[in-house]
Amino acid sequence: MLEMRGITKRFPGVVANEGVDFTVRSGRVHTLLGENGAGKSTLMKILFGLYRPDEGSVHLEGTEVEIRSPADAISRGIGMIHQHFMLVPTLTVAENVALGLGGAWGSSDLRPIRQRLVEVSERYGLEVDPDAFIWQLAVGERQRVEILKALFRNARILVLDEPTAVLTPPEVTDLFTTLRQLRDDGRGLVFISHKLHEVMEISDEITVLRDGRIVGNTVPESSSRESLAQMMVGRPVLFTRTVQHHDPGEDRLVVRDLVVQGDRGNLAVDKVSLSVRAGEILGVAGVSGNGQRELAEAIFGLRPVESGGIDIDGVPAGSLAPKAVRSKGMAYVPEERMRDGVIGEFTVAENLVLVDHGSPPYTRWGFLRFGAIKRQCTKLVQRYSVKTPMLETLTRSLSGGNIQKVVIAREFSCGAEVLVVSQPTRGIDVGAAEYVHEQLLGQRAAGAAILLISEDLDEVLQMSDRVAVIFRGQIMDQLPRSEATAMRVGRLMMGLKAE
Ligand SMILES: Nc1ncnc2c1ncn2[C@@H]1O[C@H](COP(=O)(O)OP(=O)(O)O)[C@@H](O)[C@H]1O
Ligand SMILES: [Mg+2]
Repeated sequence: MLEMRGITKRFPGVVANEGVDFTVRSGRVHTLLGENGAGKSTLMKILFGLYRPDEGSVHLEGTEVEIRSPADAISRGIGMIHQHFMLVPTLTVAENVALGLGGAWGSSDLRPIRQRLVEVSERYGLEVDPDAFIWQLAVGERQRVEILKALFRNARILVLDEPTAVLTPPEVTDLFTTLRQLRDDGRGLVFISHKLHEVMEISDEITVLRDGRIVGNTVPESSSRESLAQMMVGRPVLFTRTVQHHDPGEDRLVVRDLVVQGDRGNLAVDKVSLSVRAGEILGVAGVSGNGQRELAEAIFGLRPVESGGIDIDGVPAGSLAPKAVRSKGMAYVPEERMRDGVIGEFTVAENLVLVDHGSPPYTRWGFLRFGAIKRQCTKLVQRYSVKTPMLETLTRSLSGGNIQKVVIAREFSCGAEVLVVSQPTRGIDVGAAEYVHEQLLGQRAAGAAILLISEDLDEVLQMSDRVAVIFRGQIMDQLPRSEATAMRVGRLMMGLKAE
C-alpha cells in the first residue's frame, strides 16, 4: 500500500495540490478524476519524483519514503506512463525496453530481453513486435511499449496519466483488458481520465480533484456520470441534451473529390467528397493527423486546392481567399485558437470585431465608430458568458475556455450560415465545453450547415446528425447517427473497413 498524506504543491500564482490524501492499494484501480488544471498530473509527478512537495509525505507499506527522482521511484517499484511518451524513435522496441536496465539485463545481448518481451506481451495482451522501430509504431503500440518498459522495471504501482486520450475505442477496450490483468496480478494502478464512462467502467475507487483539492471519494457502484460530473465541475452538468430530430434542408456546403497537399508536399486530403445541409451537423471523426486540419483549411481558403471543388449554396468557392469565403456566408472556428483564432496581444473587444471592423456599423466614412463597437462587444461578452475583467483585457491572459468563447462569439454572431468548426472543445474545461455544444446546437436549430471536425469521438457521436470517418486523407465511410456506434466508428478510424 502506498499513501500520500497532506500533499501541498505550489507554483507561482497557483496552488496545484492542497492537503491531498491519496492511497494506492495493490489489486485495485484507483481513478483520479478532475478537469484540466485540477492538479492530477502534479500529484502523480510528485509520486514519481519529478516534483518535490512543499508539504506532506509519502508512505510505502507504512514507512515514510522520500522520492527524489524518477530513478528513485522506479527502484521503489513505481512506474509512470506519461501523457507524452518518452521513447527513442530511432531505436527498436527491445532496445527501448533495454535502455537503462541494470543488473542481469544490462548486457548488450538483446536475446534474453526479446524472449522475455514476448512472454510478458502475451501474458498481458500487450501485442508489439520487439524488432519494430518506435517511429514505425502507431500511438497505441507506443503506449504498450511504455507499459512493457515499466513492467520490465518491476513496477508494483503503475500510474497512467490520461492513457486513453490518444486511443480509439477498440484500443481502449484492449488497454482495459491489460489493466484488469495487471490489477488481478496484485499491482496497484492509478488511472487518470476525465472521460466519465471510462471511469465508471474501469475503477475500483474514484477520487475527484477540483482546483487542487479533493472534493470527493467514491466507488462506481454508488455513482453516476451525473454525480461525478457535478463533483468535478462543482455544479450540475446536463448530459441528456436533446438533439431534436428534424429534417434538414438543402445542401449548403458541397465538397467534391477534394485533393489538398500537406505542409511537406504530401497528399493530405485524397479525393474527399462531403455535403452538409441546412440545419445539419456533419461530424468528421478521425485520429489526429489524418488530413482533418488540411481539409478545414482548404474549405476556408487558407490552403490551396489541388483539384476538386467546393460549393457554397451552389456557387463555386474553391481557391477563394478567406475574406471572399466569408462574404459567401461561411465562418470558421480553427483548431489552433491561439494561432489562428485570435490575436493574443489584442484586447477582447478587438478580437470580437476582428473580421467585421471594416464594415458598417463599425466604420462610417472610414472612421471606426467606438460607441457601436463597444455596444456590440458588451452584448457578445454577456451573451456568450466570456469571463473577462474588461473589454480592454489582453486576450492572451484569458483561460483557454474563455478564449474559445471569444472565437465562437465572433464567428457565430456574424450571420454565417455555413460553419466549419475544428476541435471546438480541445483543452477547455467541461463547463466551457458544454457551453460550446449548446451554441452549436443553437446554430443548427437556426438552420446553419455545420461541419464539425473533432478527434473527440464522444463529441462527434453526441453532436452529429451524420458521421464521416477520415483515415489517411480519405473518407472511409459516412453513417447516419443511428448506425454510428463507438466501436464501428472506432474501427473505421483505424482504417478497418469490414467488420
Ligand atoms: N511546472 C509548472 N509550473 C507552473 N504551474 C504549473 C506547473 N505544472 C502545473 N502547473 C499548474 O498547476 C495546476 C495543476 O496542473 P496539472 O497538475 O497539470 O493539472 P491536471 O493534470 O489535472 O490537468 C494548473 O493550474 C497548472 O497550470
Ligand atoms: Mg494532466
